[in-house]
Amino acid sequence: MAILVTGGAGYIGSHTVLALLEKGEEVVVLDNLCNASSKALNRVEELTGKPVKFYQVDVRDSEQIRNVFTLHKISSVIHFAGLKSVGESVRKPLEYYDNNLYSTLILLAEMKRAGVKNLIFSSSATVYGQPEQTPLTENARIGGTTNPYGTSKLMIEQILQDCSRADPELTIIILRYFNPVGAHQSGLIGEDPNGIPANLVPYITQVAVGKLEKLSIFGNDYPTKDGTGIRDYIHVMDVAEGHIKALGAIDSHKGVSIYNLGTGIGYSVLEILSAFEKASGRSIPYIIEPRREGDIGECWSDPSLAKQKLAWQAKRNIHDMVRDAWHWQVNNPQGFND
Ligand code: NAD
Ligand code: UFG
Repeated sequence: MAILVTGGAGYIGSHTVLALLEKGEEVVVLDNLCNASSKALNRVEELTGKPVKFYQVDVRDSEQIRNVFTLHKISSVIHFAGLKSVGESVRKPLEYYDNNLYSTLILLAEMKRAGVKNLIFSSSATVYGQPEQTPLTENARIGGTTNPYGTSKLMIEQILQDCSRADPELTIIILRYFNPVGAHQSGLIGEDPNGIPANLVPYITQVAVGKLEKLSIFGNDYPTKDGTGIRDYIHVMDVAEGHIKALGAIDSHKGVSIYNLGTGIGYSVLEILSAFEKASGRSIPYIIEPRREGDIGECWSDPSLAKQKLAWQAKRNIHDMVRDAWHWQVNNPQGFND
């Protein structure tokens, strides 16, 4: 039996595929490569010495998905595929709703047809909107999302709840990631954003290699320890391992279960910057800009439910995260185009 991974050539997907192969799982990847390179999977094969069965298909193409379910015996699906840029989603709402919602609907319909009952879904801390209090537990209020990307995740979570009510045999684990950063310690796979990075850590690493001139810090007037925004950054390999634990525990779950994947520790923008400068030995020029629209001041998780129920806990600290992000960037200044 194989694990089907949609979006498996992407940032979190490729790290998870690597962890699955290392665990001895057979893996089938579906990805349309709209935001990824197949080189990521070649490197995963190189690192593990194991093959990945890859189909370059769009998850919205039901015929192709049906074909994959016919060709392979699938025990569980991990669904990463989707569009993920907050700013772009504001400019292109229809593309985001079309891709994120429709791919999930097609996938669920084809899973049903093929009799596949287990699904792990990539959600996001963004579903909590403006937190009423931190740390965020899974039963904190959700909603109040400020962009179509976040709303698509919220809507998918609701769709999954509805499908579970209609089919009690479905087992769905929703993982709400906080801020995944860093890269595999080999420096062979990592985050390779299209164009100018929207996220903090890839922006910093690109300033450090000289691709960008300086960092803009969006706001230093938040009611936080140093005025800059606070987030729960988590190493991408810890996120990948969260999926392995969720998969391992799926038979003991029923219906829909939701877990935060975070470290439980919040760091400010200035703290990340300083940790990065220490790890890389480079100084990062920056300017303070006004707050970015739609940003919240602080957001971090209570990850204790995942510890209790999945026996998962993030193992890597902030120094590991920035060191590995830097190692990947300095070895691959042009990402997978090097
Ligand atoms: P990514 O863009 O690197 O990976 C997504 C992958 O899906 C890409 O390889 C892309 O080519 C593929 N894809 C997109 N639409 C597709 C479609 N219709 N059919 C087939 N393939 C398609 O992003 P990521 O950072 O690896 O994120 C993975 C998942 O985790 C996404 O669902 C994202 O929303 C979610 N998430 C990410 C973050 C983050 O900060 N990176 C935070 C929370 C949640
Ligand atoms: N920031 C800057 N300058 C930049 C980029 C970011 O100062 O160039 C600041 C932001 O204002 C924020 C912090 O750095 O305070 C983190 O910003 P990111 O853009 O890296 O991350 P976000 O928390 O805004 O959003 C990310 C993903 C979303 C996801 C969310 C929660 O982009 O997809 O984490 O999981 F939903």
